[in-house]
Amino acid sequence: MIMTATIDMTADQALKARHRAMWALGDYPAVAIEVIPDLGPVLVEASGVRAGDRVLDVAAGSGNAAVPAAATGAHVVASDLTPGLFEVGRAFAARQGVQVTWEEGDAEALPYADDTFDRVLSCIGVMFAPHHQQAADELVRVCRPGGTIGLLNWTPAGFAGQMFSTMKPYAPPPPPGAQPGPLWGTEDHVRALLGDRVTDVVARRQSLTTARFRTPEAWLDYWKSVYGPMIAVYRGIADQPDKVADLDRDLTALAARFDHGTEATVMDWEYLVVTARKRS
Ligand SMILES: C[S@@+](CC[C@H](N)C(=O)[O-])C[C@H]1O[C@@H](n2cnc3c(N)ncnc32)[C@H](O)[C@@H]1O
Repeated sequence: MIMTATIDMTADQALKARHRAMWALGDYPAVAIEVIPDLGPVLVEASGVRAGDRVLDVAAGSGNAAVPAAATGAHVVASDLTPGLFEVGRAFAARQGVQVTWEEGDAEALPYADDTFDRVLSCIGVMFAPHHQQAADELVRVCRPGGTIGLLNWTPAGFAGQMFSTMKPYAPPPPPGAQPGPLWGTEDHVRALLGDRVTDVVARRQSLTTARFRTPEAWLDYWKSVYGPMIAVYRGIADQPDKVADLDRDLTALAARFDHGTEATVMDWEYLVVTARKRS
């Protein structure tokens, strides 16, 4: 038994090290600042963050939710597997004139005591931890009774969910036990993960509209240069030019399918916001 646990821990640490390296590729903070900055404030508002709250932003990246949460006057800890993202986060917080505490941490083993936070948030973050139940258990554990858990995640049918499905055949198979992130974008899945430890679950689907890219090809060029998970997939097939061309074609077609613009590319990227109260 001890031997098995040791091997699992080693495998998990290796997996997390790969994830940390993947999110450090490219320039994820550019995505957060240039393309999806509206998501953090949406989550902060939906979660009812107020001055004086103790808030944990799980998988916070460069502070998309943590910084607007701190702007309400809350005491915010931004936690992430990839501390390389914190430098941009610190500069972002300084520009906004707010204080955020940045701490490295795995969403599946949060380094905090039970019942520590009034609000536990995650903005398209916890969905990237591979073991969903373990991560959900941690969100609930560190939230105080009566506190709020607020989650914002890409849906499987929306643009980002479909982007991951499109890349899947070109990527190595996921490790045993790892679940697809966009499952967190389905209400039933999140309800099942949180279980009867929470009440007052509210879920709603919304979309982020982006008109930042001139064409589907321009979106792909940008995403290939900044977005770690995509850069990693392309690196894995770099010695197979036919596959690279196929993936370019498939991702461009995906963006074209979602494009409803006339003069430039305009896409709606669907996400699910869930808030829930930890049972007292
Ligand atoms: C799409 S980014 C979202 C970052 C930020 N919340 C935002 O809205 O911009 C996903 C984040 O999840 C983090 N992450 C991935 N796996 C994680 C894990 N197991 N524990 C904690 N953070 C993780 C990555 O380092 C990355 O910062």
